[in-house]
Order: sequence, then C-alpha cells, then structure tokens
Amino acid sequence: MKALITAGGHGTRLRPITHTQNKHLIPIANKPILSYALDYVREAGIREVGIITNQEGSEVRDMYGTGKKIGLSITYIPQEKPAGLADCVRIAESFIGGEPFVFYLGDNIIVGGIKRFISEFYTNKSNCHLVLAKVPDPERFGVPEIKANRIVRIEEKPKKPKSDYAVTGIYIYDSSIFKAVNAIKPSARGELEISDAHQYLIDKGLTITFSEITGWWKDTGKPNDLLEANRLVLDNITTQIKGKVDKQSQVFGRVVIEKGCEILNSNVRGPVIIGKGTRIINSYIGPYTSIERNCVIRDSEVEYSIISEECQILDQKIRIEASLLGKSVQIIEAKSKPYTNRLIVGDQSIVEIR
Ligand code: TTP
Repeated sequence: MKALITAGGHGTRLRPITHTQNKHLIPIANKPILSYALDYVREAGIREVGIITNQEGSEVRDMYGTGKKIGLSITYIPQEKPAGLADCVRIAESFIGGEPFVFYLGDNIIVGGIKRFISEFYTNKSNCHLVLAKVPDPERFGVPEIKANRIVRIEEKPKKPKSDYAVTGIYIYDSSIFKAVNAIKPSARGELEISDAHQYLIDKGLTITFSEITGWWKDTGKPNDLLEANRLVLDNITTQIKGKVDKQSQVFGRVVIEKGCEILNSNVRGPVIIGKGTRIINSYIGPYTSIERNCVIRDSEVEYSIISEECQILDQKIRIEASLLGKSVQIIEAKSKPYTNRLIVGDQSIVEIR
C-alpha cells in the first residue's frame, strides 16, 4: 500500500504566516504538522509516499528530501494550481498505480494513528473507507448521511447537515477512485471536490465503509485550530529535561526542555515544550505553550501559544496568550520617548494591543 499526502493548497485562513511559509511546516509541539502525517503512514508499515505540493516553493522538498532519513521513499507531485482534493488524487494516478492507497490531508492531526482504519478497509473489502468524526460545526466539512449504518449520501459544506459527522482528512481507496475523480466536474467554487468523487462511488453502488474517530482529530486550517492541536499534542508529552534549569527557577507538570536551553529565574508550568538553545529569563511560561529553538523570552509571560524559531519576547508587561508567532518575530519594549506602540507588521497580521 502507498500513501498520498497533501501539502499544497492556498492556506488563506492562516495568513500572514502562510505568506512566507507552507502551512504544513508550522510547528505543533515543535514538530512540523506534516511530520505527524508522515509518522502515521510509516507506523502503518507504508514506505512509498507521494506528497502533493504547490508548483512554487520548495520548502517541503528541502525539509524531507528523498525521505530516506525518516525511513520513507518520497515522490513529490506538483499540482499546477490548488484545484481541489479530487484533483490531488487525479494527478497522482501514475504514482499510485493499481494498488490501494491512503489519501491523507497533510494538515490533519489525530490521536492513535491510522493502522486501524487500514485494517477496516481490508476486512470490509471496501472500495473506499472514510474516517468520520463527530463535530459541533459539520457545515464546514463534507457531511455523510447515514442510514442503517450505511453512508447513502455525502454533501460538501451543506447548509443543513444530515448528520453531526464530518468526513475527516483520512481516506483509503482502491483504484476505483480514479474513475470517480476523472468523471466529476468542478464545483461552483471551481474545485474538483472529493465529496463529489465519494458521491460518484455511492451512485455506482461501490462499497463505501467508515470508521469513527474515538479520540480527537484536528484539521489545522485556522489559527485557533493550531493552538488547539498544540494543546492536544502537549497533553500527551512526557517530561524530559535536557537543558539547564537554575536554582531560582520552578518547573511544574509535564515539560520538555531540550538540549542547550536555559531557564533562569523563571516559572514554567507544563504542559510546555521548549526547543534547543532557547533562553527563558525572569519569565513565566504557562500551560500549552510550544517555543521553538533559539528564542529569547525575558521579563515576560507567555501562555497557550505557539512561538516559532528565533523569536524574541522582551520586557512585556501584559501576558501574551493564545498567540501564534511566525519565525524571527520580535516583541520588545519601546526604549526611548515617545513611549508609543511602534509596529512593523507584514500584510494581514493581527495585533491585539491593550
Ligand atoms: P484546505 O485546508 O481545505 O484548503 P487550503 O489549504 O487551500 O486552505 P484555505 O482554505 O485556508 O485557503 O486543504 C486541505 C488540505 O489539502 C491541505 O493539506 C492543503 C491541501 N490541498 C492541496 O494540496 N491541493 C488543493 O488543491 C487543495 C484545495 C488543498
């Protein structure tokens, strides 16, 4: 079995971070989102992986290369433009060939991996196995209508959802999906919709089965989803302190402090992860915070946030919370008069000041 993982798309909901970075490389608990997908497929025994990328930008390829270092063989499949999820499947036909495959949206994170879904696919002799999750807002997703434990219809972003379920970003197909993605037409928004491909399979009488995710699942499309995914992943870390914590500091709860870190006269309350070479000085780091490598946090408080590499947060009087910082961001104190808020902020940034 092969895997096809998406890492293209527009990423509009995560601007401005996605102006300069592919969203799949944003860190969740200091690990790129896409690495979770790659780990799940490897854990499931899959070695051959196709990654859908945008035409422009080589960051994903630069990061994972041939895949050898992480025990995979990766083929990159550039998509001309983000023309929909069914288009991702369509352009991967020659890579996949005739065998069954996992199609995994690279911005999804779940607990527990994907092995059990693959077993269900084989046990039920499915043509298409979908993974469903109960959600409070199904109208944002593809929604199945289920009758007598069978999916009878799937609608994309319906105004009146027929169930509380979302079709998540994990699908297992046999080669009949290629007939579907080649037969359907673009939707009103101009994309080849994966829900239309699924509906095609239902209409042709093929076997569509499903599993329900029992733990959590996160589709990391928006900033709040990233913070939530970060919280959920951090909830499962185990304490590992490899850096330096001085006598004046207090560290509580589950905390990962990587090599070369320094925690000086500070209070760190887990779950928290702090990357290599980061320095925390006279500060408070509160629960559900991930701080990547080579950052400096001094005389400040940070909680429930994702701080990317090389950031500096210095001398802040009000706690920074529920925040998402891209690489090399500086939040510093105005040192000379007039004491104003002076901002150098890229397009579509959001700055909430008190
Ligand atoms: P989405 O999150 O649905 O779309 P998007 O990435 O374009 O983001 P936004 O809505 O904020 O503009 O995409 C789900 C996954 O599929 C994600 O991994 C990106 C990827 N994708 C592609 O690779 N190609 C595509 O044509 C589309 C639509 C998405």
